[in-house]
Amino acid sequence: MSKKILLTGDRPTGKLHIGHYAGSLKNRVAMQDSGLYENFIMIADQQALTDNARNPEKIKNSLIEVALDYLAVGLDPAKSTIFVQSQIPELNELTMHYLNLVSVARVGRNPTVKQEIKQKAFGEGVPAGFFIYPVSQAADITAFKASVIPVGEDQLPMIEQTREIVRSFNSIYGDVLVEPEAVLPPSTCGRLPGLDGKAKMSKSLGNCIYLSDDADTVKKKVMSMYTDPDHIRVQDPGKIEGNTVFTYLDAFGTDKEAIEEMKQHYQRGGLGDVKVKRYLNEVLEAKLAPIRARRAEFEKDIPAVYEMLRKGSEQARAVAAKTLKEVRDKIGINYFDNIENNE
Ligand code: TRP
Repeated sequence: MSKKILLTGDRPTGKLHIGHYAGSLKNRVAMQDSGLYENFIMIADQQALTDNARNPEKIKNSLIEVALDYLAVGLDPAKSTIFVQSQIPELNELTMHYLNLVSVARVGRNPTVKQEIKQKAFGEGVPAGFFIYPVSQAADITAFKASVIPVGEDQLPMIEQTREIVRSFNSIYGDVLVEPEAVLPPSTCGRLPGLDGKAKMSKSLGNCIYLSDDADTVKKKVMSMYTDPDHIRVQDPGKIEGNTVFTYLDAFGTDKEAIEEMKQHYQRGGLGDVKVKRYLNEVLEAKLAPIRARRAEFEKDIPAVYEMLRKGSEQARAVAAKTLKEVRDKIGINYFDNIENNE
């Protein structure tokens, strides 16, 4: 039986943090190691450039950081094709063909893009490339005929848009493209709040623990975490809901019994924040120390990491080129393939 094709990726706009780990990377590694899929992992630098055109250095620097983070958590080029979006020019031609199948109004209705436009406050107007990036994402997915797309909730509109494009293309030109399905992370990998208790870890909020943070930095960050603001004295009863330290323990702790007992003790009163934080720090260290060690190994040979990306991109490009050829055939623009057949 042929394996299902899985594709996912990240925009390289900074180092990856433990929110990425809990929400997607952990699951991605498990899917890779299951052996059930043919895996494509894309670093979406071109998508990142749609709102960073004036800051390409940031994307370039983040590209290698993301690659190191991938390798550190256990994504493995022997099991996954790890590649760089901008190295696959075929994706751009696919995007142009798909743009003809999507109305301007439809692109404008994407809720994720709408929200991003509000958040990003584009001074000089919304770049057209940013506005249409969901169509380019449809190219990313369909170029590989991927059917399994592990993503977060915010990406559901992109997958829906891709499905519409696939249906539209196949009905006009004939069946070539594959309709993808989004796979949301299991409930055990929910979204992690920031250190400050805000809804999301985000670089711009400065509330992240990075996979590359050293042990001291992690400890300092853990000790500064938001807990229950009304838990003033150790003997006071404390709240678990919205208490970031316990949310992280639920996400990363393995000894569920010990955690349950701490929660009860905390709620009764008599358990201080510092103790819980020390425990969380141990739990995080157990996860992060091996990741940090692997990252340090790969950091010793950065050219080898670029070479891994180059090879992955070369393999990915061959697949995308094959799909593009089929797409061009279907549209009927491979005019010169059989010149003798033209009368
Ligand atoms: N939009 C995704 C994000 O911001 C990144 C991405 C680009 C992607 N192309 C993709 C994800 C294709 C899945 C499939 O995280």
